[in-house]
Amino acid sequence: MGKTKKYCYGICLLSSIVINILFSINLYLGGGGGALQRGEKNLEIVYRPSLTWTEKAAAEAEAVAAISCSGHGRAYLDSLISDGQTVCECYTCYGGIDCSEFSPGCSADADSGDPIFLEPFWMQKAEDSAIVVSGWHRMSYSYAGYTSMSTMSLEVEKYIHKIHSIVGNAITEGRYLVFGIGSSQLLSAAVYALSSQNSSSPSNVVATIPYYPMYEAQTLFFNSEDFEFEGDTNSWKLNNATNNMDVIEFVTSPNNPDGELKTSVIGGKTIYDHAYFWPHFTPIPAPSDHDFMIFTLSKLTGHAGARFGWAVIKDKDVYEKVSTYIQVADLGISKDTQLRVLKLLKVAVEDDGKQLFKFAYDKMRQRWDRLTSVFSKSTRFSIQKRDPLHCNFFNETRLPSPAYAWVKCEREEEDDCHAVLEAGKIIGRTGSTYKAKDRYVRLSLIKSQDDFDLLMLRLTELVSLENEFLSYKQNKNVRNAREAGMTNSTPPKHPIHYGTRNRT
Ligand SMILES: Cc1ncc(COP(=O)(O)O)c(C=O)c1O
Repeated sequence: MGKTKKYCYGICLLSSIVINILFSINLYLGGGGGALQRGEKNLEIVYRPSLTWTEKAAAEAEAVAAISCSGHGRAYLDSLISDGQTVCECYTCYGGIDCSEFSPGCSADADSGDPIFLEPFWMQKAEDSAIVVSGWHRMSYSYAGYTSMSTMSLEVEKYIHKIHSIVGNAITEGRYLVFGIGSSQLLSAAVYALSSQNSSSPSNVVATIPYYPMYEAQTLFFNSEDFEFEGDTNSWKLNNATNNMDVIEFVTSPNNPDGELKTSVIGGKTIYDHAYFWPHFTPIPAPSDHDFMIFTLSKLTGHAGARFGWAVIKDKDVYEKVSTYIQVADLGISKDTQLRVLKLLKVAVEDDGKQLFKFAYDKMRQRWDRLTSVFSKSTRFSIQKRDPLHCNFFNETRLPSPAYAWVKCEREEEDDCHAVLEAGKIIGRTGSTYKAKDRYVRLSLIKSQDDFDLLMLRLTELVSLENEFLSYKQNKNVRNAREAGMTNSTPPKHPIHYGTRNRT
């Protein structure tokens, strides 16, 4: 009897322990109404095994991402809906309901600097880079709870410092940061902040040819009595050698369109536009440490659509003027954008940036390898020379792999290179867009793989035509020598005919 009693007590004790353990587990993982819950003691986020209000949004996001558009287009949550179906947005030269129809005669579009080449990286990182935005996410104008009423996320600031310190491309510690709607907004904020207000004459804004056209466009558009655009640095220097005038110089390094690492020509007030100063486009020789530097997410992670850039500023007064500009222009940058930027930067710094920059550099190098192989067979066209440089990030000497090919038409008579290429079904951007000669054309190398593959196809066709013509000429010379000029063979179409059509 006594033995049976003891046995019963034992079972009761064991059951009580098991029940307590189950209760504790339930308390931490299953209790409460939210999908994510903070453990009371250590404030760590504890994930519940099942979701509640995010499930519908997650299912919608996955359903639209699963629409393949034949790999030649994309469907987004905010794409058009037709007959209850999300409409595929097809890449250039592809059409049809699922983007499967290729237009054979279509021109390769190498015009815009849309950085879609990084899309496959983000698809690989789908799980790490997705965000869920609640309906009540940061409805306020400012980040409450921070020391001062701020419109900039301190966490985003932290990750911007982190990415620069990992890459080693800029000194940002002890510097002021200001966020902008893309770096585009910060370009004009910079001119405003550096111009001499209350002076009798406007500040002279200059850049070195070939230069990014936005500098001139903005300076003219925002038409102020405090600054005016004066064009090329070298001409300005020649014409104003003796004048002690106020100058603001844009230094684009690496340069758009030709990829060169630039330094200041005039010296004085400078705005370093470092949009492309990342290891996938250029070796990083040393951290930049200028008074005013501008960077953009567009060319770092490829998210041009997010519209996010940042300025790194040394001087407090200049910083305050730039902050004022942003506050007056738009009361700060969208909190939704900042949330997304934070998530993307967290992925970018994973593994000390190795994954993102290795992917991006490999992609750019492969494109440059294919490009140089085609141009090496041409005497009619040439591209910019690239010199190897030590890259502190990859810790080896590498060739730059710029975002754009700066193509030159070498034949004397082909002084409208855009027209020459256009006739060969290639759309680039004219040299005169950058105030250079129209003998030059910029070709974008950072668009989608479809765009790049078609560009390679069209370039190969154009160059092989040139070689066909050359071998025809050589054969003709041999025949002439042999037969004293008697020939009735038809020459291939002279490449010179391309390009003449649009000249008038
Ligand atoms: C040199 C340079 N600076 C600035 C920008 C603007 O970039 P975003 O406004 O997307 O940041 C670009 C865009 O192509 C650029 O090429």
